[in-house]
Amino acid sequence: MNIQEEKIKELVARREGARLGGGEKRIEAQHAKGKLTARERLEKLLDPGSFEEYDMFVQHRCTNFGMEASHIDGDGVVTGQGTIDGRLVFVFAQDFTVNGGSLSKTMSEKICKVMDTAAKVGAPLIGLNDSGGARIQEGIDALAGYADIFERNILSSGVIPQISLIMGPCAGGAVYSPALTDFTLMVKDTSYMFLTGPSVVKSVTGEDVTQEDLGGALVHASKSGVAHFAADSEDDAIAKVKKLLSFLPQNNLETAPARPTADPVGRTEDSLNAVIPDNPNKAYDMYGVIGAVVDDGEFFEVHKDFAKNIIVGFAHLGGRSVGVVANQPGVLAGVLDINASRKAARFVRFCDAFNIPLLTLVDVPGFLCGTQQEYGAIITNGAKLLYAYGEATVPKVTVTLRKSYGGAHIVMSCKQLRGDVNYAWPSANIAVMGADGAVGVLYGKELKAETDPEKKAALAEAKKAEYNELFCNPYQAAQKGYIEDVIEPRNTRFRVIRAFEMLEGKRLEMPAKKHDNLPL
Ligand code: HXC
Repeated sequence: MNIQEEKIKELVARREGARLGGGEKRIEAQHAKGKLTARERLEKLLDPGSFEEYDMFVQHRCTNFGMEASHIDGDGVVTGQGTIDGRLVFVFAQDFTVNGGSLSKTMSEKICKVMDTAAKVGAPLIGLNDSGGARIQEGIDALAGYADIFERNILSSGVIPQISLIMGPCAGGAVYSPALTDFTLMVKDTSYMFLTGPSVVKSVTGEDVTQEDLGGALVHASKSGVAHFAADSEDDAIAKVKKLLSFLPQNNLETAPARPTADPVGRTEDSLNAVIPDNPNKAYDMYGVIGAVVDDGEFFEVHKDFAKNIIVGFAHLGGRSVGVVANQPGVLAGVLDINASRKAARFVRFCDAFNIPLLTLVDVPGFLCGTQQEYGAIITNGAKLLYAYGEATVPKVTVTLRKSYGGAHIVMSCKQLRGDVNYAWPSANIAVMGADGAVGVLYGKELKAETDPEKKAALAEAKKAEYNELFCNPYQAAQKGYIEDVIEPRNTRFRVIRAFEMLEGKRLEMPAKKHDNLPL
């Protein structure tokens, strides 16, 4: 063997060593927990043969607590570039087999390098997180490393899509980077997100809580809203990321790729003419409406288990990627509350940042009232959605199916919030409030003064009928030009596709400013 061959052999051996991370035993332990290793995950995520690894030989520089005696090439994170469905992405995958995936300064440098490159060339960043947080032996250096990552998350926000997969216990600093990214996916039963684990919680607050109850996938996907998706397995999480990316552009200067469809643009859907129940208090399923309108009935829902009274997600219309926001009359009558407002506002802002047009389907009885909502700042939170729609400059097409009352009418992409094309079905009621509430306010004194119950009921009914006749229809709004047209429900698909086609060249700028002051 000549010298060059020997050196190549050494390289191959070093690569093999680095690929083993924390070693066979720890890999087995990882598998025993139902988790894949960082490299196995990347293999599943990226197109075969597309992965180009960076910084495989980087080692930590810590000399405390005996760390100087233990060095593993790569230092607990695998970073690089690859493709998904042929499109460039940048990745980092923390390796729990190396010091529990904890973040050292050098690990942060590796992650920052891919973050910088992703921002420079304009391609999505996907982080696979499996980490015990700041590497305790590195002290302040580890904290500085986190801050370096957070700053890049912030600078890249709205420039490239940033996606976080949570694939193990993530504690401390490990949860804040995902929180700064656009979408967080957790894996049920094997992933957790919390500031501090159950033992610290016990010592600080005395509370006994399991990892699952404190920060499991279901908790964050349904209660806190921290996670946008709760996947059944690591494979499912990876499949969801691929699907999600198919709706997104590479960066804020591009549009999402078109997806050809055999679903005719001119398809009418007779079933939509029979969707709205006679009884205005009866629910119907908004998913059915979305499915009937979008290409091939395919809807990719985001935040499916959180604030179910509003639905958000991606679909294609005539081959173009769109964001869909729809009130769900089947849950809490589709009312807007704190969580629904937060959920939809974040989605609308994401779509606006990445040139994804918005289709809004409205059936909303109003904002939820009461002390719980007021104390939780429904005013500020509701204003988030109002703000998000009002600032959005992407094409906005809105269809009002049934109720659209009061402040909620304004918030749900009304004409005056720069809605581009606003349609209503003949069943729409666009008004300040429903007839019951309106008659109570306008004729409360008369109704109270009337002692004969029959006469009282007759007066209330007569006034409600008068109110319904005048206001509970789409024609008041249509007469004033607040909606473009009253459309037959069966024609909704081609009417909204035609509107989006017309809007393709839309150009609208916000006034110059340092940044806005969104009501946080
Ligand atoms: C150094 C760590 C570590 C850490 C885990 N390890 N977390 N090493 N720094 N933060 C090491 C363990 O010592 C162990 O090493 C190996 O990783 C695997 O960890 P286990 O505890 O055996 O695994 P498991 O039982 O699965 O528990 C995982 C865990 C737990 C829940 C993540 O390790 C844990 O609670 N870690 C600390 C979490 C935490 O409080 N982090 C906050 C850091 S402060 P050996 O060699 O024994 O196998 C922080 C502040 C940043 O992040 C704030 C920014 C805003």
